[in-house]
Amino acid sequence: MRIVDLILAKRDGHELPAEEINAFITACTAGEIPDYQVAAFLMAVYFRGMTAAETAALTLAMANSGATVDLSAIPGVKVDKHSTGGVADTTTLVLAPLVAAAGVPVAKMSGRGLGFTGGTIDKLEAIPGFRTALSGGEFLANLGAVGVAITGQTADIAPADGKLYALRDVTGTIESIPLIASSVMSKKIAAGADKILLDVKTGSGAFMKTPQDAVRLAEAMVAIGARVGRETMAVISSMDEPLGLAVGNSLEVAEAIDILAGTGGAPELREVCLTLGAHMLVLAGRAADFAAGYAELDALLANGAALAKFAALVAAQGGNPAIITNRSLLPLAADRHTVACPESGFVQAVDAARIGYAAMLLGAGREYKGQQIDLGAGLVMHCRIGDKLAQGQPLATLYTGDPAKLPVAAAVLRAAVAIGPAPVARARLILGTITAASAHLAE
Ligand code: URA
Ligand code: CA
Repeated sequence: MRIVDLILAKRDGHELPAEEINAFITACTAGEIPDYQVAAFLMAVYFRGMTAAETAALTLAMANSGATVDLSAIPGVKVDKHSTGGVADTTTLVLAPLVAAAGVPVAKMSGRGLGFTGGTIDKLEAIPGFRTALSGGEFLANLGAVGVAITGQTADIAPADGKLYALRDVTGTIESIPLIASSVMSKKIAAGADKILLDVKTGSGAFMKTPQDAVRLAEAMVAIGARVGRETMAVISSMDEPLGLAVGNSLEVAEAIDILAGTGGAPELREVCLTLGAHMLVLAGRAADFAAGYAELDALLANGAALAKFAALVAAQGGNPAIITNRSLLPLAADRHTVACPESGFVQAVDAARIGYAAMLLGAGREYKGQQIDLGAGLVMHCRIGDKLAQGQPLATLYTGDPAKLPVAAAVLRAAVAIGPAPVARARLILGTITAASAHLAE
């Protein structure tokens, strides 16, 4: 196979055989194909798309391009959860111990932040002592002993994806459903999950701006799962405003503890965690149906079992579990500033992407890869879409280690919250579910 023939075939809209896709990914991972040919191929896929069979073949080829995790030593069905990303999306910190408390093993490989805000690994590093780079042996040992382990995704997981993603980023080929779907699913498959639950976000703070696009992405990923024998389902959820109240690493850990302890946090974040968790219990065969799973997880929040599991997770990975009762052990930034509502009215819209940008300006996220972040920086929202506010009421509290950053961040935050005279209905949080058998979408 000549690479140029593969590019020509895709350019002209032909379906590529799995063997050719495999050979392409193998050669690409080995560094045998020049970047200009890989980039041309990606652009051909961007314009021509891929069939379900091609997308599944690409996914498997990328999943098998490096190390794969074998979780077979751990009894039970391992269900992984993946969110397509959003602002104040603190779900993993709540969901992992919550689902583990129900007896379903949670083996999680997470990343650092790509966009404005930190990823799960950044957030966990806000916990003093917490180790996010477990060896393979430690990961499995902790999973067996505690029922939950979270570690950073290593470079040897789906290296082909790392290579393609870096090129997509600079060639205008990120926004392609088969490329996104195969990228996400290859990493989940390599990480060893038996079944996969996807949280596909839609709205101003999401990758997929419209519900239609979110559904198309979800359907592509669910179809891959069905073809490769890893049952996958997707929840479509709203990212029209930040999900939780807190944006920033320590602040999000504190909100997760509030949800687990029942002492606070955004009800919307709690609701999404219970919804995703209930589907995970059903996928794992641990709950008869969604309602039973939901009720069980609700009880595990109420009786302290989920919080206790979080404490066990923190202790097992070298962190100080005393943060659960003593928030002052988290590195919260000292400089704080309240942004006041400029006029009375109803919150019409909250631009989640701009809120994320404000948090990044305060030090909570990265402007470029590898940048050091301020684990104590970020912001806490005091309003949601539909709230009625009086002039001067707080919109948000900003936290930073560098007070020079406050004025610009405050201006970005003010611009992200639209206030107007008309009452506004609250946004729908869960828009539907997609399984291989059916799509259930709310009206
Ligand atoms: N996240 C991924 O992992 N891959 C993509 O292509 C897009 C988002
Ligand atoms: Ca994430």
